[in-house]
Parts: sequence; C-alpha cells; structure tokens
Amino acid sequence: MENNLFLDAAFSKQTERPPVWMMRQAGRFMPEYWEIKNKYSFLEMCKTPEIAADVTMLPVDLLGIDAAILFSDILVTGEAMGGDLSFTQGVGPKFANPVKSEADINALATDCLDRLQYVADAIKVIQQRLNGRIPLIGFAGAPFTVMSYLVEGGSSKDFKLTKLLIHNHPELAHKLLAKIAKVTIDYLNMQIAAGVNALQLFDSWALALSWNDYQEFSHQYNAQIIAGLNRTNVPVISFCKGSSVFAPIMAEAKPDVVSVDWNADLLNIKKALPAGIAIQGNLDPHILYADKPVIKKYILQLFERMRGEKGFIFNLGHGIMPDIPFDNVKYAIEVVKEFRY
Ligand code: CP3
Repeated sequence: MENNLFLDAAFSKQTERPPVWMMRQAGRFMPEYWEIKNKYSFLEMCKTPEIAADVTMLPVDLLGIDAAILFSDILVTGEAMGGDLSFTQGVGPKFANPVKSEADINALATDCLDRLQYVADAIKVIQQRLNGRIPLIGFAGAPFTVMSYLVEGGSSKDFKLTKLLIHNHPELAHKLLAKIAKVTIDYLNMQIAAGVNALQLFDSWALALSWNDYQEFSHQYNAQIIAGLNRTNVPVISFCKGSSVFAPIMAEAKPDVVSVDWNADLLNIKKALPAGIAIQGNLDPHILYADKPVIKKYILQLFERMRGEKGFIFNLGHGIMPDIPFDNVKYAIEVVKEFRY
C-alpha cells in the first residue's frame, strides 16, 4: 500500500499524523455525486459495480482521504434476506414488507450470498481503480440496527416497534438477530475474499438501548460476527452512536478499532479501553457547517488532546450531512494532512 497511515493506526502503530476518512464521504454533499445520482436510483448505483466504483472513488480523487469506503448501504443484507427495500428522496429507506410476526421471521432467507454478489464485484473493480494507493474499507450493518429497519419498515425516531419486540418477545428478537448475524458473517467474509483491507460494523442506532439491552440484543451478536471473520491483517472497526457509553462493552467484542460519537472526550474513552484497541472519531459533524477558523480550531483541539497516543484515526462522530459545504470538508481534510505529531 502506498499510504499505510490508516492501517497502521488501526493496528495501533505510530503514525506521523492521524489518518483521515469520513463516514458518508461518498455522498450528497458532493456535486459530482449528484451528476451520477440524477441518472440512476440509489440501489441501481449500489448494484452496478462500475457505478459503485465511480462513487467510491469521488472522495479519493477530490478530497484525498487516507481510506476509501465501499459505496453501498447497510440495508442490502436485509434486502438479500427478503426485505422489499427502496430508497426515496426525502423519505429515506423503506422496507415495504416489515417483519411483524414469527412467520415473517421464518420466511427470511439466510443462504442469500448470491444476492449480494454485486458487492464482491464492486470491490474488485474498486481495488483495480485504487491500485494500491490507499486501503478500501468494506462494511455491514450490525444486527440490531438492521433489525430496527426490518421491524419498523424504515427509519424511526423512537424505535417503538423494535423495542416492543425485544421486550415482549425476546425469543423472537433473538431468532431474528441470529439470522441477521449469520448473513452478516457470510457477507463480510465475502467482502474479505473479494479484497477489502478493513471492515466497519455500523450499529448506528444502538444508542436507543439501555445498558443491559445493549449487551443482550446488540453486543453479543456483534461479538459473534467479529469472531466469525476469516481475516489476517484486516482490521475491524466497531461503530455505534452510543459508543460514548458503550465503548467498554464494544471493546469486549475484540474489534481493532472503536469508533466514537462526538459526546465523549476521546482520550478518556481511549484510556478506559484495553491497550491495543485503536480509536476513531470524533468531531461533531456540525462543526463542518461552521467557519473555517472554527473548523481548524476544533480539529487541532482534538489532535492536541490525542497527541502521543498510538492508534488514532480521525473521523466524524457520525456521517457527513448532505448540505455540509463541500469546501469545508475539503478544508478539514487539508488541516488534518498538514498536522504532524
Ligand atoms: O460512507 C459512505 O460514503 C459509504 C456508503 C454508505 C452509505 N450508507 C451510502 C448512502 C454507508 C457506509 C452507509 C451506511 C448506512 N446506511 C448507515 C450507517 C451509517 C450511519 O449513517 O449511521 C445507515 C443507518 C444507513 C441507512 C440509510 N441509508 C439511511 C438512513 C439513508 C437515508 C439517509 C438520508 O440522509 O436520507 C440511506 C441512504 C444512503 N446511503 C445514501 C447514501 C449516499 C443517500 C442516498 C441518496 O438519496 O442519494
């Protein structure tokens, strides 16, 4: 790899500066994304390897980040299992046939890797285009977060149906989570075989859970997944919103990196984790709306706090919002790349 900063930091080795990539770096804040998006639906983009590769490469070529992330979505596993998935502008993701009963859970497929072959194909095209310049991150949704979309039928503010399922029918929730976990292990192993250099598990909505429910309905499945990966030299990043609280439990699942939301002090979180677990984060993405001197001040504040720490990857606490000015994102990346420990 020409640029090893990201993999070195993920394995807690010393780097000359923090590596940088940003969640949702290949997205709507880029005018170039819209040029493609105006011609295809989001799922067509994901399912056409050449287009998925084009979009994956946008932030590589236009922003100069230190790692690329596969262009896809966490909900493609739910679709492969039998969910009727669509994405509508302004509405977000929808499953038209939400899981409402044990029969619905039984009907979901677990041998469905063939329906995700397009992802392996995209990874191969992307790796040809990257040509060893920077690593490629693959990813999947964590079972709890994917379950929430299957059960709610889309995005939710309060996760009412998901919580009713886990509280009133925990055995059914476990049946569903176990099925998603099985598919996720197969899916991530397929991504490793296709050539990704790192993986991130997105448990975006774990913050909805209490401490005990997080362990029972999220953590144990994430741990199963991480233990089930056939990997050497492919680091795993565990992300959730809620990591400010759950980071010590997340570390028990043995990821290489814990990705932290913006609520916590990153150094305090790192110090509380076992040695050898790197940390990723954790700028509030809203800072990227602010004036450039403010952006610089917040990034350098974070870097001063983390100075001397091995195993630090700079990222946001959550994804880039679609209306963040492109120029601000570009500037933030320049600030990171000029910094030296
Ligand atoms: O990070 C990247 O640039 C790589 C691609 C990527 C997408 N989604 C593309 C996408 C990744 C890693 C994801 C993960 C994802 N998808 C998560 C976890 C990360 C997070 O933000 O918490 C979640 C919860 C989803 C589910 C999802 N997909 C939602 C809620 C939405 C709608 C979001 C919105 O703001 O409208 C999507 C659609 C989606 N996924 C888009 C992109 C670029 C927008 C599609 C479009 O309308 O152009």
